Parts: sequence; structure tokens; C-alpha cells
Amino acid sequence: MSQPNSPSQQPAGRDSFVTSLGAVVVTLGSAVGLGNIWKFPALAGENGGAAFVLLYLLCVAGVGLPVLIAELLLGRHSRANAVTTFRKLSPGKPWFLIGVSGVLAAVIIMTFYTDVAGWVYSYIFKSLTGQLSVEHTEAIFEQTISSPVSSLLWQWLALGTTAAVVIMGVSKGIERVIKRLMPALLLLLIICDIRAISLPGAKAGLEFLFQPDLSKLSGAAILTALGLAFFKLSLGMGTMLTYGSYMSDSQSIPATATRVVLADTLVSLMAGMAIFPAVFAFGYEPTAGTGLLFMTIPAVFASMPFGGLFTFLFFVLTAIAATGAMISLMEVPVAFIHETLGWSRRKAVALTVVVMALLGLPATLSTSVWSSYTVFGMTFFDLFDFFSSNILLPLGGIGIALYVGWVLRRDKFVQSGSNQGGLNNQRLVATCHSLLRFVTPVAVTIILLNGLGLFTL
Ligand code: TRP
Repeated sequence: MSQPNSPSQQPAGRDSFVTSLGAVVVTLGSAVGLGNIWKFPALAGENGGAAFVLLYLLCVAGVGLPVLIAELLLGRHSRANAVTTFRKLSPGKPWFLIGVSGVLAAVIIMTFYTDVAGWVYSYIFKSLTGQLSVEHTEAIFEQTISSPVSSLLWQWLALGTTAAVVIMGVSKGIERVIKRLMPALLLLLIICDIRAISLPGAKAGLEFLFQPDLSKLSGAAILTALGLAFFKLSLGMGTMLTYGSYMSDSQSIPATATRVVLADTLVSLMAGMAIFPAVFAFGYEPTAGTGLLFMTIPAVFASMPFGGLFTFLFFVLTAIAATGAMISLMEVPVAFIHETLGWSRRKAVALTVVVMALLGLPATLSTSVWSSYTVFGMTFFDLFDFFSSNILLPLGGIGIALYVGWVLRRDKFVQSGSNQGGLNNQRLVATCHSLLRFVTPVAVTIILLNGLGLFTL
């Protein structure tokens, strides 16, 4: 329901989320992704388990939540895509470059995200056909990433699936599909958790995840946790801003953001609870990093009763998570092209898919036939990951924090965040404004410098 005379009323004909619960679930669908199931357990495993989890929780609450609220509010206030938002709010000023960097980041992240999602899709198929045997998981992973034709085809399947949802529109495509997929994901995760926790010897895994040993904390882990919080909550490039632009005037943004952050963190912890108890129960190492999802997990799950079934379920849930995140990444350029060039949604999706597939080509081939091509000493896959995660996302995050903290007036931000004073959120929103003004820019500048190798703790 939209309020009359509100400055942010949706322009006629602009699509939006239908229900307020739908808006929460779709936003959660963007946050939940490979970050929860691939990155979070890998980084927790490498950085000492529970102590890292604790740091991560602090980063999510102190830095992630305020930036998420800021992005959602900016979008809802302007009712436009990432670039137009800043053009509308500050005409003639260079702030729209934050949006341009966001569109660029979305395309670049998709080049390698679809590649990894393609591996996940292929693992569903492999688990169904019984190709994932305990002894050979390393060789199977090698073979998956080093076969140029099949890895490209899997990547295009991931891109095509995402496009099929995005093309149907915001309410009839994105909201309708994600609302069905998220409960399925949760159910599968609960099943995998019960299986893992009931294994003999599971306790060591739970202790690893939940009993912090503070002596394991390092400065580097703090920066890693901060960077992960950003990636996890899809921040710094206008994804959440674009989703916020589809939310109604009566939606409480602080409540939406808080629910999304809590639920997303719960999903990460539940992924950890499916993985670490099993890893410890079968005597594997939790420190395999990237290999944890594709090598350790198939081996570990194959060792347990009904292992094939659980491996299949686990990769299905990972594919669902990855697809929800890819949908939100694709929506950023699509909304931009659709609204600024006036192209139909269909044409906007087609152009976006072609660009993503072309740029995805070098990323995918860099683990096979193009592995010897490097730029600045990195393969294309690593270069795209580095450029987006270490440069564009932090820059976007700093830009958004500075814009909200120093350009957008505090009373305007609080007004909008408390639904024109209708909700009792003023104090929370005002605190966020102060954090965005002083804390976030400094914290994210430190991540940026660290990511560029110019600063270490
Ligand atoms: N949050 C998603 C994950 O955890 C990834 C993602 C989707 C993302 N949209 C984003 C990351 C925008 C950064 C920016 O996998």
C-alpha cells in the first residue's frame, strides 16, 4: 500500500514487489548465495572457526546492517535503478558514478559467479549419476574446471536459468520464483544439518564452529570478516538499492534489513553446521579453503550412510542459493538498461546475457585452455574477482556511506527510514546515519587498502 503524496511513490507502470513478506524473502534471496555455502565455511575453516564467526557477526551488525539500510532506503526513496537514483537525488553531480560502478561490478561479478554456479549445477548432475566417488574428488574437480566445453555449457545454463526468471519481471518473475525456492532451500539445509549433527563424532565440528578460541584471532581475519560481510549482504554495488526501489512505502526498511541480516547469518551458520560436523566426524581437515565445497564435501558426504542422496540434496540447495544471488546481480544492469535506454525488459535481458556470457568466457577458460594468460600476474578469473570484490565493491560501499552520511540530510534520511515518522524507528535510523557518516567510510577504506595490498593489520 503506498501513501498518498509521499515523495517516493512508484511511478506509474513501474513493477514492484507485491507483498512485504515477498520483499523480505527476495532480498534474502540476494544475500544468500555461494557466499554462505562456499565462502563462509571456507574462510571460517581457514581462520580458526568460532573466533572468526564472532568477528564476522560483529562486522555484519556494525558495518553490514547500516549499509544495507542505506541502500534499501536510497532505492525506495528514488524509485529508480542504481544510476538514475543518484542522478535524481543529486542532478549534475558526479555521484551517479557510484551507480555506474555498481552496474559494472554486477557484470564483472557475474563472469566468475556463473562459472562457479556452473560447477555447482554440474555437481548435481554428477551426484545423480554416481560420478562422485570418495577417492577421486580431487581428480573430479580438476576435470570439472579444466574441460573448456563442458564448463562453458554449464555456465551458460546457469546464465540462462537466471535470465529466464529475470525476463518475467519483478513481481511475476523474481518475487514469485524466489518465494518458492527459499523455503525449499531452508528445508534441504535442515535435512542436511540433522544428518550431519547426528553423526558420531559430530561434536568436534560444532565446537569448532561455536566455541571461540580468541587466541586464534589475527588482524588479517578482521579484514577478511569485514570483506565477507559486504559480499554476503550484496552491498556496495546497487543490488540492494535496486531491490529497495521495488519496495512499497509502507514497508519498514530497518525491520526488513534486520530480518534479512539475521536470516542470512542463520543460513551461513546452518551451512557450517552441515559441513563441519561431517568434516570432523570423518577426520578431514577444515582448512581446505576453496576446495572445501567441491572436494572435501563430496568426499565427506560420500562416506556417510545415504551419502549419495545427501550430496545431491546439498548441491541442489547450493544451486538454489547461487541462483537467487545471480538473479539479483542480473537485475542491476537490466533495470538500468530498461529504465535509462527505454528498452523492453526482454531486450535488456538479452543484451545483459550476451555481455555477461562474452566476458564470462575468459573467466571460465582461465581454469582450462587460457590458464597461462595472465594480467598483473592473475588469471582472468582471479582478475575479475579481485577487481570487483577488492576494488569496485569497497569503492561503492565508501561512496554510498559518504553520500548518505554527508550529502543526504540526516532529517531526510530519518524521515524516509521511519516511513515519514509513521514507524518508531527514528533512533535506529539516526544511529545508522552516524555510523555511515563516521565509522563505515573508515572501516571500508581499510578493507580497500588491504585488498590492494597497501595495508595489513
Ligand atoms: N550475496 C551473494 C552471496 O553471498 C552474492 C551477491 C549477490 C553479491 N549480489 C551481490 C555480492 C552484490 C556482492 C554484491 O553469494
